[in-house]
Amino acid sequence: MPVLVRPDSMERITAPALAEKFIAEQIADIRAQVGDKKVLLALSGGVDSSVVAALLIKAIGRQLVCVHVNHGLLRKGEPEQVIRVFKDEMDANLIYVDAADRFLDKLAGVSDPETKRKIIGNEFIEVFAEEARKLEDIEFLAQGTIWPDILESERGIKAHHNAGGLPDDLKFELVEPVRILFKDEVRIVGKALGLPDNMVFRQPFPGPGLGVRCLGAITRDRLEAVRESDAILREEFAGAGLAGKVWQYFTIVPDFKSVGIKDGRRCDEWPVILRAVNTRDAMTATVEPVPFELLQKITDRITHEVRGVNRVLYDLTPKPTGTIEWE
Ligand code: XMP
Repeated sequence: MPVLVRPDSMERITAPALAEKFIAEQIADIRAQVGDKKVLLALSGGVDSSVVAALLIKAIGRQLVCVHVNHGLLRKGEPEQVIRVFKDEMDANLIYVDAADRFLDKLAGVSDPETKRKIIGNEFIEVFAEEARKLEDIEFLAQGTIWPDILESERGIKAHHNAGGLPDDLKFELVEPVRILFKDEVRIVGKALGLPDNMVFRQPFPGPGLGVRCLGAITRDRLEAVRESDAILREEFAGAGLAGKVWQYFTIVPDFKSVGIKDGRRCDEWPVILRAVNTRDAMTATVEPVPFELLQKITDRITHEVRGVNRVLYDLTPKPTGTIEWE
């Protein structure tokens, strides 16, 4: 197995000046690689693909075609932010695909977590491939591959296939401008490119999105409860100064109800489970000791503002024995 090393000249990017140097080098390399040809990018709004988009826009402007697939499992405000930052502010050539119904129809009645993940992954490739086939003269595919992806695929831990999985009729040359960067370096480069902090420093978010937090078979009303309660949790964490401090925090809505009381009447509604953990590498995790008053405030808001929810629980389980996600 070849020993992988970053290029000797590669100084660790720790400050804006080094990021600027990296950006200037990459712009020259990208222009040399793609010339006047078009490049396609699946832009999720995550850190890596956003930084790649911003770099390519700087290098080749509207020769970059970004496709943002909304699979209906994104967090509240995410698709809007992608459109605002890239289309409105950076004048990106952005195709927005609202595929929420397609994904949710395919997922209807499916309760097995791995089957849900497979459906979401396959459908994503399908939608992206359909968009790619509509376009003409695309010769390159940009990807937000980063150095740990390369190392992990080399060691057989993870298939390095952001692009992989595309059908055989779609063959592109790859453009991977952040492939020699670690995540912290990608963030510094993203900041230097002018991306907003809540995009550059955002917490990890799984590819299947809210789909694995709407436990069991996804229904639209329960998915809405996940999305709305997650938005409240994020808002309250940001207000309390926890947003940049806690590694990952989110809500889960299980597929059972319990009896409660609202407006003097008994009601059968869902509970919302809060999860907030800290970790280095996601292999083990500890639970954030969220102040009790804040938990009470979040509970009050969620039970009053989120339709169909009558209880809030806080998950006190470290990893192990719990995983970070619930499925
Ligand atoms: P677990 O639940 O295994 O999660 O303790 C560890 C980290 O991985 C994330 N995660 C995923 N990310 N696709 C992803 O891209 C997935 O299917 C997936 N499942 C879990 C999880 O959010 C946590 O950061």
